[in-house]
Amino acid sequence: MPRTILVAVAWPYVNGEPHLGHIAGMNVPADIFARYHRIIGNDVVMVSGSDMHGTPTMLKAADEGVSPEEVAGRYHEIWSRSLKEMSFSYDLYTHTHTDGHREVVHDIFTKLKENGYLIEAKQSMPYSETEQRFLADRFVEGTCPHCGFEAARGDQCDRCGRTLDAIDLINIRSRRDGTVPVFKDTTHQMFRLGAFQKQLEEWVGSKDEWRQNVRNQTLGMLREGLHDRAITRDIEWGVTVPLEGYESKRIYVWFEAVMGYLSATKAWAEQQGTPDAWKKFWVEPDGESYYFQGKDNVPFHTVFWPAILLGYGGLNLPTDVVANEYLNLGGVDFSKSRGHAVWLPDFLSRYEPDPLRYYLASIMPETSDSEFTWEGFVAANNNELVGTFGNFVHRVLTITTRNFDNAVPEPGPLDEAAEQALGACDSALGDVSKAIDARKFREGLRAAMRLAQVGNRYVDSNQPWKVVKTDKPAAGTVLWVALNIIATLRTVFYPYLPSSADKIHSMLFSDSDTLADGWTRRDIVPGTRLDMPLPLFRKLDDSVAEEENLRLVRG
Ligand code: MF3
Ligand code: ZN
Repeated sequence: MPRTILVAVAWPYVNGEPHLGHIAGMNVPADIFARYHRIIGNDVVMVSGSDMHGTPTMLKAADEGVSPEEVAGRYHEIWSRSLKEMSFSYDLYTHTHTDGHREVVHDIFTKLKENGYLIEAKQSMPYSETEQRFLADRFVEGTCPHCGFEAARGDQCDRCGRTLDAIDLINIRSRRDGTVPVFKDTTHQMFRLGAFQKQLEEWVGSKDEWRQNVRNQTLGMLREGLHDRAITRDIEWGVTVPLEGYESKRIYVWFEAVMGYLSATKAWAEQQGTPDAWKKFWVEPDGESYYFQGKDNVPFHTVFWPAILLGYGGLNLPTDVVANEYLNLGGVDFSKSRGHAVWLPDFLSRYEPDPLRYYLASIMPETSDSEFTWEGFVAANNNELVGTFGNFVHRVLTITTRNFDNAVPEPGPLDEAAEQALGACDSALGDVSKAIDARKFREGLRAAMRLAQVGNRYVDSNQPWKVVKTDKPAAGTVLWVALNIIATLRTVFYPYLPSSADKIHSMLFSDSDTLADGWTRRDIVPGTRLDMPLPLFRKLDDSVAEEENLRLVRG
């Protein structure tokens, strides 16, 4: 029976361009996972979109003197294009400023209200006397009462990850003009998060296979105790509140953005012409769901969103929340190094997506922060992709086409080394599969690369380019085995390097594509026509790292 798998990727704020920290943290792992599950035959839907609302976009718009809608729309386009160029295989990448999303948000809001989980209360919120307005969330900053971080925001501390209320901030000030706001009472809807304390404790307690960082952060929050949170704001940009008297307020961005996973699955089902198809992911009890994101998103996915789902009733809780630590650049994480980052559109204007997918998967900050360096990128590209993987594929195909009339040779009897090499293909399929299924993406990549090393060693020790001169059938056998290894490399690398996998596919086979073959070792049929190989990867000049580092300094 195929498994049913929702791949839910965090929704980026559209107040800027994507950078490599974003995609290493969420898109790369999510896409590896989705592609793997599709190729082994599971039923997958991968959704996300741009998080259009809230104060991040409002701040950027105010800086530029344009409307939030304009800023959100502009960056949504850039995000969509870059994600496509990276071959991230979203079934739907949408955004939160759609009618469909608003309808889902209103439905959930109304049901939570009916179920008694939303109550009205007076809240003391920061108010700017200079601007004559309430300052929600990112409009203010101050010192975190828990960890002492001086630039914590009104709803979350970037250092310790805790969610906050603005009134908790020490030394609060406006991020717009530096003035100290006063606190004024205003009426809001409160989400009774505390009502779910017990249920969440039991649920998280059962999640032994979650990553340590995710589990610990969540258990820590639960230990400190959950309390009610305001989920409306006095701002103009966002999803409207379906209640009388709330016309000038909007729903808190985190409360509605997480609902995007559901609204996007529904929109996808609708667009497919199978409007009920969302249910197998959300309602059927064996539907699995995996949420990919950076670590600052954890509380919203392991506490806030599950509480909303419990309060609504009848919808599946996350199977796993797969959060990465940060990718750093020169010791500082990308998200805080404004202006000092590697931006994805700029990167893609000079380099190919697959080498980036490879390098980011190889240094993915799965269990601790990791460091992006240009030297590392060039080395991974030149030594591993060009030197090991590409070189193996290229020399095997070149020797074969040159000596065997552009066709797959007929193998003779297989010796022990040949059997071992074929056995390594099966092991690689098993190892990569196990690692990816367990969300250990670096380990899966290493297992895939080990097969390329096996291939190189096998060819090195059997020297088909020499043997072909004295014993053509023996050389033919070696090359046939090596071609089988290449076919398997295509499969095990498919989740990581989809374009390169398909390039190999088109060199070896004339039908369909890698995905259609499934997760097996496809036999190479003697006599099949082979074309002269095209290089899979391009060697980068040693000067690249130096040039790019200079570019970083110049900004
Ligand atoms: N926009 C948030 C961020 O960039 C992530 C939102 S994830 C969602 O940190 F699920 F809530 F949409
Ligand atoms: Zn803190």
